[in-house]
Amino acid sequence: MSEVRKIALITGANKGIGFEIARQLGAQGITILVGVRDQVRGEEAVHKLMAEDIDANAIHLDVTNQATIDAAAAFIEQTYRKLDILVNNAGISVKEGGTLPSQLAFEDVLKTFATNVFGVFAVTKAMLPLLHRSEAGRIVNLSSEMGSLTINGDPTSFIANIPPTLAYNASKTTLNALTVFFAKELRDTHIKVNSVSPGYVATDLNGHSGFLTTEQGAKVPVVFATLTSDGPTGGFFGENGMIPW
Ligand SMILES: NC(=O)c1ccc[n+]([C@@H]2O[C@H](COP(=O)([O-])OP(=O)(O)OC[C@H]3O[C@@H](n4cnc5c(N)ncnc54)[C@H](OP(=O)(O)O)[C@@H]3O)[C@@H](O)[C@H]2O)c1
Repeated sequence: MSEVRKIALITGANKGIGFEIARQLGAQGITILVGVRDQVRGEEAVHKLMAEDIDANAIHLDVTNQATIDAAAAFIEQTYRKLDILVNNAGISVKEGGTLPSQLAFEDVLKTFATNVFGVFAVTKAMLPLLHRSEAGRIVNLSSEMGSLTINGDPTSFIANIPPTLAYNASKTTLNALTVFFAKELRDTHIKVNSVSPGYVATDLNGHSGFLTTEQGAKVPVVFATLTSDGPTGGFFGENGMIPW
């Protein structure tokens, strides 16, 4: 272990965009903590990263389980003392396509928020003391244009004709609120907090209907995980710059 190496924790990093973020950050010489809720899938991901000479470790972390979050924070504290990058990537989408808001099951809203919002809050809160020990802490929240109230409220937008997926979209809107409030608290520190959209990426989350590869989708999150000190905080960004809230 070296104090000079940057340490990055990526939640839900065993597959999809999270795995690719891990790969791209690892290729920059950053030590990767692969946050996983399934240890076997985690070890498989770590082996793939190590085959590319990336320094990677699996870390058991179910963002809906406070005990695993606390244990992960304790492990990072004992092993590395600090954390430089937290990528809140873990996210779910219940099968709500075509279900109108008025027909949506309350449990599906609760389930989606438990992972996409409350999980991010709990992980961020637990990791903040470690991020404060970094010279340049970076928090990246994986959001989506689907969470933009401006885009959702515009009857001429590119999603105007898609039935609203309330649970997922509102979870990302609320995630953006977390970004704003944590960034406000941390404005006078070395920690920057931003929401990013990876674009529409082919992954298990959307049945591989996205038109971008995970390599393309990881690009913006990686840029914001490695921002220099003059970079922005408290914003919402995609590959074409700022996204309206
Ligand atoms: N794909 C897109 O087009 C798109 C667009 C905008 C935003 N995003 C966001 O990007 C992020 C990654 O999505 P993806 O497309 O890569 O999806 P994915 O391939 O389905 O991967 C999701 C990851 O999150 C993990 N996860 C789910 N619930 C978890 C929990 N409670 N605790 C810890 N890990 C958990 C999954 O682990 P398991 O393998 O154990 O299930 C998996 O590793 C999500 O936040 C998503 O909302 C995706």
